[in-house]
Amino acid sequence: LARGVTEPDLAGRHVVVTAGGTREPLDPVRFLGNRSSGKQGYALARTAAARGARVTLIEAGTGLPDPAGVDIVRIGTAVQLREAVLKAAPDADVVVMAAAVADFRPRTYASGKIKKKDGQEPEPIVLVRNPDILAEISADRPRPGQVVVGFAAETDDVLANGRAKLARKGCDLLVVNEVGERKTFGSEENEAVVLGADGSETPVPYGPKEALAETVWDLVASRLG
Ligand code: CTP
Ligand code: CA
Repeated sequence: LARGVTEPDLAGRHVVVTAGGTREPLDPVRFLGNRSSGKQGYALARTAAARGARVTLIEAGTGLPDPAGVDIVRIGTAVQLREAVLKAAPDADVVVMAAAVADFRPRTYASGKIKKKDGQEPEPIVLVRNPDILAEISADRPRPGQVVVGFAAETDDVLANGRAKLARKGCDLLVVNEVGERKTFGSEENEAVVLGADGSETPVPYGPKEALAETVWDLVASRLG
């Protein structure tokens, strides 16, 4: 198949893609967030739609324009993301967790703005763990035969950490990127290795996020029954 020609190999399939970074509120004006732009998740949503899939895109704080022909669900926190994924996943052939989910959230939410107090240092912020959505749906698939894909950004021992994470999460595919200057956060390009639970390793050279997305869908399509 020539590059640029889209084969509708995901026709009749429903895919759920999460994108962006969750935000964990401290008070009505502040949150703990992360640097995820959501561009990779949006590229996955666009390319899946172009390949014929029905797409549910669950987005967290990206500010990106809505892709055409995609159902969008907007959420804020990791707990809300979990609810949205668990709601959409029973009807999905594929779940791709491209969102950067906050590992921790503030234990308490101040319903009024936290104010400075004269001559006093601030109270420490106590954090608690968020649920691990990818591990949960990988262990207990909302639909039999569903393909589950995770993402991981690593700074050191990228492949070894990626292999260990794939095993720990129990997903079918894990897209591992090395976090670097030009790469990943906010950029239009990406470079990655896609690890399979079957031991496969698919390197994706530095290039547009669409190209990585197409490779992910190729690998997913070959795993769909
Ligand atoms: N993920 C998730 N729920 C969480 C944290 C992460 O579903 N609470 C998903 C992400 O969407 C991603 C994958 O798990 O697809 C890997 O995220 P990552 O942050 O690399 O993994 P962690 O297990 O949180 O490990 P680390 O301590 O390295 O952050
Ligand atoms: Ca994490």
